[in-house]
Amino acid sequence: MGILLAAGRGTRMKSTNPKVLFDVNEEPLCFASYRALFALCDKVLVVVGYRGADVKERLLGRAFEVYGKEAVLAKTYFYTQEEQNGTGHAVKVALEGIGKGLTAHEATFVLNGDLPLVTEQTLSPLLSAMRADSFDSLCLSFEASNPTGFGRIRRDASGHLLSIREEKDASESEKKITEVNGGVYCFKSSILYDALQGLKSDNKQNEFYLTDLLGSSQQPKLKTGALLVENAEDLHGVNTTYELTLVRKLAQDRLKKSLCEEHGLDFSNADSCFVSARAKFKGPAQIGPACSILGNSEIGLNVFLEGHVLVQNSKIEDEAQLLWSSVVKESRVGPRSKIGPMAHLRPGSLLSEEVKVGNFVEIKKSTMAKGSKASHLSYLGDAEIGEEANIGAGTITCNYDGFNKFKTKIGKRSFIGSDSQLVAPIVIGDDAYVGSGTTVTEDVPDGALAISRPDMLIKEGYAQKLAAKRKAQKP
Ligand code: UD1
Ligand code: CA
Repeated sequence: MGILLAAGRGTRMKSTNPKVLFDVNEEPLCFASYRALFALCDKVLVVVGYRGADVKERLLGRAFEVYGKEAVLAKTYFYTQEEQNGTGHAVKVALEGIGKGLTAHEATFVLNGDLPLVTEQTLSPLLSAMRADSFDSLCLSFEASNPTGFGRIRRDASGHLLSIREEKDASESEKKITEVNGGVYCFKSSILYDALQGLKSDNKQNEFYLTDLLGSSQQPKLKTGALLVENAEDLHGVNTTYELTLVRKLAQDRLKKSLCEEHGLDFSNADSCFVSARAKFKGPAQIGPACSILGNSEIGLNVFLEGHVLVQNSKIEDEAQLLWSSVVKESRVGPRSKIGPMAHLRPGSLLSEEVKVGNFVEIKKSTMAKGSKASHLSYLGDAEIGEEANIGAGTITCNYDGFNKFKTKIGKRSFIGSDSQLVAPIVIGDDAYVGSGTTVTEDVPDGALAISRPDMLIKEGYAQKLAAKRKAQKP
């Protein structure tokens, strides 16, 4: 069984948002602890409190994406700790919630919810030690370069755990101890409930500390210990937003490493890019500097993101190219299509294969069929553009009359001349032409030419005549 502690506010974050919901790789911060417990345990008990409904919703949202709704609901239980009376009290709330379901389990893992780098592997030394040495309770500890804020590991001369002293209760000499508690525990389930009943809150914070279940001075009848971990990166906790920035860097590094190894992603400057843990990759792709791949985006084979490209909740299909500074949100870019530089696909833009969208083109809620092109300076909103159609530079769909939005339909192989305005609702047929500078206000039949342009006038020698007139007017 696993218990995830996620009831605290995280006051040191100085935010009204719960600490456990800050994003790391676009997952809630507490999700790493959940993932580790989900992998190892038949039941995961989550203790929520401060803004508990939000914590539950976000945690479940991500868990459903990763494991599927059924698997998650089959083994996840939420309990509310109304008042945050300490980590020991939080575990008690979970045990009282699960009731008699507890003693059947040989080990209960307890994880703080603020350990975004913890993994299933982090917990494996605990399980082996519990089995081999029949411990009643164990925690992971590490050597901290700055131990401030952590519970200090007090050991006797022979190295046995005496107690864990919280920062606020520690004497000056105890504060000098650099071995600290990592916030990851394993208990023999059969002792846990009774031991919790005996906890007292006679400390500086008037809290029931889970850490008082460890050490011979608090628990003389139990066999307890602290396992010192050599590589403590997994135990990096988050208490302040600065610590969050450090953990985020490490979490991004780990994610990119696994994406490179698994799919052959090729980052030209990985540190400058952000990739969401929610994004999916099919295989190799080339990713230039300062790209962000956000949300549940899907990136196809051999996609090329040139640089400063933002992709959010979008599907980029095989061999598509997104050039400098393009932005693609809630859209699809079909195979071998080429976007940008500086193109903006707003939500609902569905580009089929081999579509070209050039610089300073904005597209919203529109479809572009195979081989169609809008190469320069256009706005296409609520439009349906047929195969091989060519949208000239500066074409604007006038889709909004101040009250409602209207549709524009452009047929196959049609050619829209530069600087045209298409006043929607409007239909331009297949193989039709629109002359440059035309304001199209009526439907254009298949194969027709629409042109609205005053006749051009040339006045020979106009400049000289004007100059002569000005000279004559001078006093
Ligand atoms: C805790 C440990 C400390 C350890 C440190 C490691 C205790 C008493 N202290 O201190 O020894 O070095 O973690 O990071 O456990 N929470 C609840 N209910 C509560 C209080 C906290 O669910 O009433 C949850 C929080 O949401 C958080 C976790 O428990 O996820 C740890 O709480 P936090 O306040 O960060 O504990 P620390 O003071 O860091
Ligand atoms: Ca903490």
